[in-house]
Amino acid sequence: MKGIILAGGNGTRLLPITRVTNKHLLPIYDRPMVYYPLQTLQAMGIRDIMIVSGLGHAGHFLNLLGSGKEFNARLSYAVQEEAGGIAQALALAEDFVDGEKIVAILGDNIFEDTENVAKAAAEFANQQSGAKIFLKEVPDAVRFGVAEIAGDKIVGIEEKPKQPKSNLAVTGLYMYDTQIFDIIRDLKPSARGELEITDVNNVYIRQGKMTYQVLEGEWTDAGTFDSLLRANKLAAEKLSK
Ligand code: G1P
Repeated sequence: MKGIILAGGNGTRLLPITRVTNKHLLPIYDRPMVYYPLQTLQAMGIRDIMIVSGLGHAGHFLNLLGSGKEFNARLSYAVQEEAGGIAQALALAEDFVDGEKIVAILGDNIFEDTENVAKAAAEFANQQSGAKIFLKEVPDAVRFGVAEIAGDKIVGIEEKPKQPKSNLAVTGLYMYDTQIFDIIRDLKPSARGELEITDVNNVYIRQGKMTYQVLEGEWTDAGTFDSLLRANKLAAEKLSK
């Protein structure tokens, strides 16, 4: 399986601290944010990793991470010229992926329980086809993609719903077979003008090919001031030992 870290976007919810740097290079406790998704992929035993970032900051990632030796990884870099959504960024990795399954992770997502996530990745590697996502109970579901569950099946995801159908947020860790690239080619931009990862996931759900796991350990993203603070606390109290 190949890994993709999505580290693009303008980080507008964190202005002015993202005015001259990329969100994923900001410090979370004792290291740059992008180290956490790298460590999560490392825990899964994934070596070939592409980092997709935006114009103007790609060189900074290269300066920071180089070949990836420190993480026992082989890093590749791609540039997303405009912030056109997570799915658009993923499409840039098609040649790199070269027919393998993929694990995509948002560069601002921090997972406490990398051990169970790694187990799920091993299961997915053996699964013939389809996709897998990871859900987490949250108090503020309106901020996220939110899963609707019926029985033990996931029947749909709504992106930032006003009235969430559950308190289960879709975290930024996704596993896909190569069908994803055909799905992205058929996507239409959402109301905010982006190719949405939630639309990709809903195609897999409609095809009956989506599996999921609810995470026990702590999880947070870091795209707002409140979640950035939470990420720092999680890193300082639980992850830096
Ligand atoms: C993105 C996804 C959303 C997901 C979240 C997790 O939202 O669109 O479905 O729940 O990441 O971090 P964003 O933070 O880019 O608005």
